[in-house]
Amino acid sequence: MKKAIYRQHGNAAEVIEIIDAEPQALEPGQSRVKILRSPINPSDIVQIAGQYGIQPDMPAAAGMEGIGEVVEVNGDGHEIGTLVLLADPPGAWASERVFPTEVLVPVPRADIDQLAMLTVNPATAYLLLTEYVDLKEGDWIIQSAANSAVGRYVTQLAKSRGINVASVVRRETAIPDVKDAGCDAAFVDGPDLAERVEAELDKAPVLAIDAVAGDAFGRLIATLAHGGTAVSYGGMSGEPLIIPDGNIIFNNVSVRGFWLVNWFTNAGPDEIKRVYGELTELVLSGQLNAPIDKIFTLDQITDALAHTVAGGRSGKVLLAPNGI
Ligand SMILES: NC(=O)c1ccc[n+]([C@@H]2O[C@H](COP(=O)([O-])OP(=O)(O)OC[C@H]3O[C@@H](n4cnc5c(N)ncnc54)[C@H](OP(=O)(O)O)[C@@H]3O)[C@@H](O)[C@H]2O)c1
Repeated sequence: MKKAIYRQHGNAAEVIEIIDAEPQALEPGQSRVKILRSPINPSDIVQIAGQYGIQPDMPAAAGMEGIGEVVEVNGDGHEIGTLVLLADPPGAWASERVFPTEVLVPVPRADIDQLAMLTVNPATAYLLLTEYVDLKEGDWIIQSAANSAVGRYVTQLAKSRGINVASVVRRETAIPDVKDAGCDAAFVDGPDLAERVEAELDKAPVLAIDAVAGDAFGRLIATLAHGGTAVSYGGMSGEPLIIPDGNIIFNNVSVRGFWLVNWFTNAGPDEIKRVYGELTELVLSGQLNAPIDKIFTLDQITDALAHTVAGGRSGKVLLAPNGI
């Protein structure tokens, strides 16, 4: 079997390597899964760089989510051929992997590209919309990196609840993508963002969600209504958060942070099952979807990583460890 590992932190395209490894023998209660698809997410890049909230031991396996097919079971388990979502810890960028049978979540046979992205980003979007502000129909939210997969899921979920979405992107060429996703107003980020947002929206946003950090975070905060909430959940710019103190003090804005791992740690099994049950239905029905930019094989992983971090993509990059 083949798997992607790294022996030191650094630029993902430079430190990743594909190695041949002996297949692991199954112990009772374990299943072997042939991995079909796994996305390259920003969190993978950040973890390989050594800047993530969890630091793995070296050498480390890479790839945090994906979908595969059960090919062997020791003891009770899913039928051979069952499609399953892969669970933590990382190791999804491999041709196969052994998991405890109990952590594998079976899903119906459907679009494997969309299902491969179900675990991380749809739940993030769902929780950003539900955990911080009691949003009512007609409220506005504003989000940066709105053409990202999370941004698209946020728009799709918000619109299904009658919430208005103002989408902010860093380049003009992404505006058609966020309009296609269904947002109500679209802006290219810039120093006068707050003035343009105020001129176009009928009322100020009550929730700002940010994946860029740097001074883009401050520009989102400056658009918020009095008493609004800003949630930081990503740092795509690689810069520290810059927060305008006037907005915090005079406009009573609250600043919060979100990490899906914290939710998994704190939510009980019933809540996790409820959220993923809802999201699985939405992905299966096509109501939640994210475009795919390109699919690479495992052997092309260096090109896949370089393509992912180059930016300006039209969607997600997926790995197909057993062929496209
Ligand atoms: N906190 C959590 O638990 C959690 C969970 C899931 C995801 N996230 C975060 O959510 C964010 C989006 O993830 P995703 O998988 O949806 O991303 P994605 O689909 O891969 O899209 C990446 C987005 O980042 C933008 N971007 C890239 N480099 C940038 C830069 N230097 N400055 C500003 N924007 C930049 C891209 O814009 P262009 O198209 O213009 O390149 C694009 O909008 C990431 O920061 C990720 O870490 C956090």
